[in-house]
Amino acid sequence: MMPPVDTALSDEEILGTPVTMGALALANRLVIAPHTVNFGFTDGSPDDDYIAYITRRAPGFGLTWVPIAAPDPLGRAEPEQPWLWDDRFIPGLARLADALRAAGTEPGMQINHAGRQTSPKLIGGETPVAPSPQPPRSIYTTVPRELTTTEIAGLVEAYAATARRAVTAGYRALNLHFAHSYLVHQFLSPDSNFRTDAYGGSLQNRMRFAVEIVEAIRAEVGSDVALDVKLNGSDFVPGGIELDEAIAVSTALLARGADGVSISGGVYGSSPFNLLLPFDEKAFLPLAASIRAATGGLVTAVGKIRTPADAAAAVREGACDLVGVGRAVIADPDWALKALGRLRSSVRPCLGTLDGCSERLRRFEPATCQVMPEVGRELRHRPTGQPRRIAVIGAGPAGLEAAVYAAELGDTVLLIEETAQTGGMLRLAAQTPGGAPFGDLADFYVDELARLGVDVRLGTRAGRAVLSSFAPDHVIVATGARPDVPDIEGIVSAPLAADEDVLSGESRPEGRVVVLGSGRRALATALFCAARATTVTVVDHDCLRVAHDASALMRRAYKQQLAAAGIEIVPGPVRRLTETEVVLDDRQLAADLVVLAVRLRSLREARDVVPDGIGTTIIGDAKKPRSIMDAIAEAREAVDGTHGP
Ligand SMILES: Cc1cc2nc3c(=O)[nH]c(=O)nc-3n(C[C@H](O)[C@H](O)[C@H](O)COP(=O)(O)O)c2cc1C
Ligand code: SF4
Repeated sequence: MMPPVDTALSDEEILGTPVTMGALALANRLVIAPHTVNFGFTDGSPDDDYIAYITRRAPGFGLTWVPIAAPDPLGRAEPEQPWLWDDRFIPGLARLADALRAAGTEPGMQINHAGRQTSPKLIGGETPVAPSPQPPRSIYTTVPRELTTTEIAGLVEAYAATARRAVTAGYRALNLHFAHSYLVHQFLSPDSNFRTDAYGGSLQNRMRFAVEIVEAIRAEVGSDVALDVKLNGSDFVPGGIELDEAIAVSTALLARGADGVSISGGVYGSSPFNLLLPFDEKAFLPLAASIRAATGGLVTAVGKIRTPADAAAAVREGACDLVGVGRAVIADPDWALKALGRLRSSVRPCLGTLDGCSERLRRFEPATCQVMPEVGRELRHRPTGQPRRIAVIGAGPAGLEAAVYAAELGDTVLLIEETAQTGGMLRLAAQTPGGAPFGDLADFYVDELARLGVDVRLGTRAGRAVLSSFAPDHVIVATGARPDVPDIEGIVSAPLAADEDVLSGESRPEGRVVVLGSGRRALATALFCAARATTVTVVDHDCLRVAHDASALMRRAYKQQLAAAGIEIVPGPVRRLTETEVVLDDRQLAADLVVLAVRLRSLREARDVVPDGIGTTIIGDAKKPRSIMDAIAEAREAVDGTHGP
């Protein structure tokens, strides 16, 4: 543990304080948390795409963890990740270490064996191994094979040999992934370890494998290498690891050779918190604080540290010595430079809803990011053609991204918005429970528009006069969509409101509210109404899966939130509406207000006011109602398109 923080220091000074991890001096407290992206590691060695991805993000971070090097072929967890079970992988990972060091960060290597948290498809058709033959609670279903004690001893040696290879490749910091349902965590947790030998039963036995790995690595690499261990402060599953055991494990590992612990929490499928913390919860910080206080060890905190202010507060409040940043740096590659005040612009905020990152991994696809479409495309050359004059109509997420990106490319940009505010649906989504990050994204765009000198005309209807006087080379129409009125008998007599009118305050959700729709927009609106109405019922009019357009983790989170708020979800379709009722096949729901969130209709009338001869591109919901991720990606494509090939 480092000495107490001088609370008079600024956020930048706190985050910029040098840290010593074991024998290793780190420039500051900022750490890129290990995160797999499932690209850039064909056959286990990094290619230029991964090196470009991670070195683009590394500047400013004292330490950058490269995720999950597999110490054994059966330990693979992703189609594309580092492999390090053989010396032949050393040169590729050495090239990555050199590139990270050249980017100004200390390269660190995380080692992980997936155990049962994998599929035969990822491990050459073999059966996954685990402490006990219990199937995982995740997308994987294969019942694993129980490891023999001889195999356990072999894996301890494999970990030590892998650590030696990482050090040979130039990594002076190692992180052992003992959290999140992977092999060593499976041994630690009584929820997955049912062994009756020396590796199961008492905590002493369950942590034996972890202790042996730490001791073997320390003996192999000596005292010059910094050794950190990622642990769960709580699994948030009945029968899993709780804080008292996490403290005991941390204490033991710190005594046997670890220089620090990174404290996370949750496992796949845990509740109320899983390892990615849906919504804006900082639930792992109290766990980190308790472990830091109890052990006196050097602690890295992770979990929803989204802003530099969050990071500094975590240190100031004594939760940690170092701050691990995961999704926030996927979303904003300049996060650390901004946190340290070396780059003066706002942080592009992570929305936390996982659409681009972990949802893609869940489907074995390469990660991207819903607010940063350049993830994985860092080597792509931005267009360099002549600066253009670009008019953007509509200041929702698509229009804002188009305006900001065009201005970044050097274009002269006019942004026209009919309402008095920028943000569109982002501002409304910000009103819903857990929706604050959407408002942060809108605020980010406002800051960027000002920094980049975009001419923003609010309260202005796009017309020929305003466009002609600007004389654009190209017009981008990003006017969004409106909730469509479904064709239901009696709809004209029903007490109707569109979801966006409820969220904007134009329509008050009082009494008995029935929300039609089952997408995340409908569910977020229902949660918003629950705090104001007497009862809220969601009717899945289109008979789609509830939260069908959300990532799997968010779907679970929504269901939990809806249940906690007492919101009933009723299958549709709606057969008839009256002034007071929503009529289904088998029941009638009394309704003082029926909120429409079924489907959207694109708005693109603005296209008609574009003077003849000027190229026009329609993007985002105005083209076809979809997600924010589509809107932002399409905005960039449209701007690139205006610059030609
Ligand atoms: C796309 C993605 C991949 C991840 N991969 C890893 C990993 O390989 N190793 C690991 O220890 N944690 C992994 N994590 C978890 C992060 O390290 C971190 O614990 C978690 O995301 C919470 O931090 P954040 O809120 O800053 O993202 C991953 C998280 C994400 C979003
Ligand atoms: S995809 Fe979403 S949750 Fe993942 S890093 Fe990007 S903004 Fe954050």
